[in-house]
Amino acid sequence: MLLSRRQFLRATAAVGVLAPTLSSALTSCAAPEDVPKVQFGAALPIPPLAESTVQGGTRVFALNAQGGKHEFVPGKPADSMGYNGSYLGPTLRARRGEKVRIDLRNQLSEETTIHFHGMRLPAADDGGPHQMIDAGSSGSPAWTIDQPAATLWYHPHPHGSTERQVSLGLTGLFLIDEPGAPQLPHTYGVDDVPVIVQDRRLDSNGQLTFDSSGNSLGTLGNSIAANGVLGATLKVSTERVRLRLLNASDGRWFNFGLADHRTFQVVASDGGLLAAPAPVTRVQLSPAERAEIVVDLKPGEQIMLRSFAPELGSVNPPDAFGGGKDFDVLRLDASASLTPSPALPSSLTTIPAIDVDGAHIRSFTLNGRNINNHTMDMNRVDEVVAKSATEVWYVDNTSAYQHNFHVHGVQFQLLDINGAQPPAAMRGWKDTIPVLPRDRMRIAMQMPAYADEQHPYMYHCHVLTHEDQGMMGQYLVTESGTGPSSLTMEGMQH
Ligand code: C2O
Ligand code: CU
Ligand code: CU
Repeated sequence: MLLSRRQFLRATAAVGVLAPTLSSALTSCAAPEDVPKVQFGAALPIPPLAESTVQGGTRVFALNAQGGKHEFVPGKPADSMGYNGSYLGPTLRARRGEKVRIDLRNQLSEETTIHFHGMRLPAADDGGPHQMIDAGSSGSPAWTIDQPAATLWYHPHPHGSTERQVSLGLTGLFLIDEPGAPQLPHTYGVDDVPVIVQDRRLDSNGQLTFDSSGNSLGTLGNSIAANGVLGATLKVSTERVRLRLLNASDGRWFNFGLADHRTFQVVASDGGLLAAPAPVTRVQLSPAERAEIVVDLKPGEQIMLRSFAPELGSVNPPDAFGGGKDFDVLRLDASASLTPSPALPSSLTTIPAIDVDGAHIRSFTLNGRNINNHTMDMNRVDEVVAKSATEVWYVDNTSAYQHNFHVHGVQFQLLDINGAQPPAAMRGWKDTIPVLPRDRMRIAMQMPAYADEQHPYMYHCHVLTHEDQGMMGQYLVTESGTGPSSLTMEGMQH
């Protein structure tokens, strides 16, 4: 639905939207992705840490997927979905080496799945489109955490309705801890703060709306939410704050930086710590990517975390497909006196380079809604890989607009972008990479250690409209690296 700037202003007057000049209100008919100015000041809500119980050595979390109402615009409750609440979900947290089980009760009136994005786990527990949980029933994926400390996330993956369910609010973080972690800010909600950033396409009634066919990127929002709130502000009481940023948008690229262009440190990528902090003034995230950043603050200052116009390569004109725009995301308000924070360590972890000698090579071409000229077929096995094998995948984008590429069940290393070394902030473990128009990326990974001839893992574009429209393929992991080219009926159920 299209909304004029005037209608939008009327709709959002209650939240203190600042009016542009009268003449611009009268003369411009705003594109729906135009973000109106929002007054900042609402407290950034911190998703609660999920409670868990330990049952026979397994840490068990209980989640209910449920419908609800959420007010992006005060007084205008929007239909929403959440885990254990009406919007977003609690933060799951477990240690490397722990056995975990997630008991999900589906209290929605439709089927769903629960996928653990970035997790190394068996395909049958991965919560992809084959692991459907009917309305009213439950699922209990379980596995042993076997990867470094990281900021991962969980969300539904029902084929064809992922965008709607994720965007209505079924999104939460999954933090992995590891003993021996370097000295970084780590007090949850105080100096170690999760920030789930989403652009929301709100109509004049404050309802979430979708736009799968409006432009090639699908839904681009007109408002920016941090942990579900527009105009969010975080009071900071320490000299350094660590922000765990997740781009949980449907199709929007964010290019995060501070309003005064100060340098900050990227300390982690999707799958864990970088080898060393990477000093930058911008970190760009496509949908589903994460970055952990550490920002230094001065007593009493206010500084805006902003998304600057993203770098979208040869996208033409540069303001197409969500380019060319700045958005304010989260204001950081430093207290008049700040508790000292320890200096950042100069090295964070060791990231062993993957030895790609003799690796199995595959190629994936992204075009339109296709990967290698196919759209998703739930019965077709696109690739069969050998358990724990080292592989190198080429990923090419031959479209005129951006895609990204996500592989389930693994963390990979980005070897190069058009033959050049990736920027420092992308040299750690990744599970999702942006693939700009005409770009060719090369990624290396060790395939999952869990052989299973019936349950495939997915790889796909994480622009959710593209994913729902079939920009996805399936790979099986077997002992030998050979296997069926289609799934049996047995494999179709879980
Ligand atoms: Cu974030 Cu296939 O998922
Ligand atoms: Cu995933
Ligand atoms: Cu795409």
